[in-house]
Amino acid sequence: MAVTAVVGLQWGDEAKGKIVDLLTDKYEVVVRYLGGNNAGHTVMFGGNTYKLSLLPAGILRSNVTSVIANGVVINPAALLKEIQSVVDQGVEIGELLISDRAHVIFPYHLAEEAVLEQRRGDQAIGTTMRGIGTCYRDKIGRTHAIRVGDMYRPDYFRQRLEEVVEQKNVIIQALDPSAETLSAATIYDDYCRLAEQIAHRVTDTTAYLHKALKQDKNMLFEGAQGSLLDIDHGTFPFVTSSNSSGCGIHVGSGVPERVIDQMIGVVKAYTTRVGGGPCPTELHDQTGQHIRDEGHEYGTVTGRPRRCGWFDAVATGYGARVSGVDCIAVMLLDVLSKLDEVKICEAYEINGERTTDFPSHIQDLELAKPIYRTLPGWKQDITGIRKLEDFPKEARAYIDTVSELVERPVEIVSIGPDREQTVFC
Ligand code: IMO
Ligand code: MG
Repeated sequence: MAVTAVVGLQWGDEAKGKIVDLLTDKYEVVVRYLGGNNAGHTVMFGGNTYKLSLLPAGILRSNVTSVIANGVVINPAALLKEIQSVVDQGVEIGELLISDRAHVIFPYHLAEEAVLEQRRGDQAIGTTMRGIGTCYRDKIGRTHAIRVGDMYRPDYFRQRLEEVVEQKNVIIQALDPSAETLSAATIYDDYCRLAEQIAHRVTDTTAYLHKALKQDKNMLFEGAQGSLLDIDHGTFPFVTSSNSSGCGIHVGSGVPERVIDQMIGVVKAYTTRVGGGPCPTELHDQTGQHIRDEGHEYGTVTGRPRRCGWFDAVATGYGARVSGVDCIAVMLLDVLSKLDEVKICEAYEINGERTTDFPSHIQDLELAKPIYRTLPGWKQDITGIRKLEDFPKEARAYIDTVSELVERPVEIVSIGPDREQTVFC
């Protein structure tokens, strides 16, 4: 039996979807354990592109059981739309199980997030506006929380919605007097209809996962977001609202981390970030734009241009330590192929002091000046390479430097979106 986890070590968008898809044929169970439809995982094969957000990538293989575990926040309408779009693309989807403990995103979560973000002005977090943070906040706060399992207890569900919606109207209208009044009855009807459509998939996924482990099933945990967006360990408050580092696996699935045999950290060969918050190696120049163009760095979920910069080994090394990864997968190396030289941030200078520690406060991170190691570019197309020894020596040196500074072996290098464009080291 093998239990493997794939987690992002940067600010999300590390191309985790490709790694998960590559691995899924070896696994019988694929688990999403955090986040919601803020994630955007692109999987390409057989000439088709699949854009997944809430669905685990296992859904694209009919023999895999995909699990949306307790730590995920679910917008049922978005989930059903996504299932439909995959089916419309001709995919024979596998079994999909949804945790009855997962929390539900309601229209007031979106309304509340919109007004909160708007009121923060230039300090806005720059969220994906999917109601993720407001739903997680209600989960932690408990009094306004509604879980998937609650939707199948009609009297209880109606009562809960009446209580919650009344209070949400007060809160939202206090912040924005022009906000429309939400109706508990309408939400109840809509959500009963939606709940009905997913009812056959809803179960106690924790119990399922433990049975699967007992049966020695191979299991893959599919991370969303990245370690630096982790609510506890990331660049707070410019983070997402769940534990998106490796720390989230146990809480988000009920499966203890000690059963995981291999934790793979996924990194881009450079840095990207969407939304607000400091990003020390961000490039505001032509090189930044070149990386954006070559890497098609525009958000899958929101279409926003991503902020681009050099690989940050201080931030990524921190992500690797917090997540506890055994090895790393370096993605999108081909994006750097046309550059004369490439840089890797090996330390920060903060208030005149050199450090390789990642600051715990964003005001310190804002002061961080990257100290770079500059390497020669390889200046050739590497998208056809299939073996590590065939890389030009400059690209090898780049991979080795990433490994040295992040202090983890590089086991996978990706040089294009296709399944075949992958080098196992
Ligand atoms: P994947 O799984 C990149 C970012 C948002 C914003 C912050 C908070 O594709 O790697 P939220 O809507 O979660 O409250 O937004 O987190 N963010 C992501 N950035 N990739 C993601 O997911 C992200 N999910 C959230 O841009 O800065
Ligand atoms: Mg994304």
